[in-house]
Amino acid sequence: MGDPTFLRILPQSELQTGEKRAVDVAGKSILICHVGDKLFAVSNICSHADEKLECGRLGNGWIACPIHGARFDLASGKAKNPPAKWPIATYRIRVVDEWIEVAV
Ligand code: FES
Repeated sequence: MGDPTFLRILPQSELQTGEKRAVDVAGKSILICHVGDKLFAVSNICSHADEKLECGRLGNGWIACPIHGARFDLASGKAKNPPAKWPIATYRIRVVDEWIEVAV
C-alpha cells in the first residue's frame, strides 16, 4: 500500500521538449522522454533483441528502436509494429520542485 518511492532523476530544465535521456535507476536502464508537454519514463531496452532505445527516433507518443525499427507507445509500452511483439516496461513519472522524479 502507499505510494511507491519516487526517485529524483534530473532537473526539469535539463530535458526540453523533443529530448530524451537514458539514466540508470535502481539497476535498470530507463529512458526519460519529453514529448510536447508530457514526460514519459520507459525501459531503455527493446523487447525484441535487448538493444538500447536511446538513439531511436522520438515521435508523437512513441519511440522507435534504432536497430530494426519497432515502435513503442510511450504511455502504455505496447509494441506498435513488428518485429517487436512484447511491450516495454513503463514507469510513473512526475515533477516535484522542478525535478523529474520516477517510481521504479
Ligand atoms: S532490437 Fe529493437 S526492433 Fe529489433
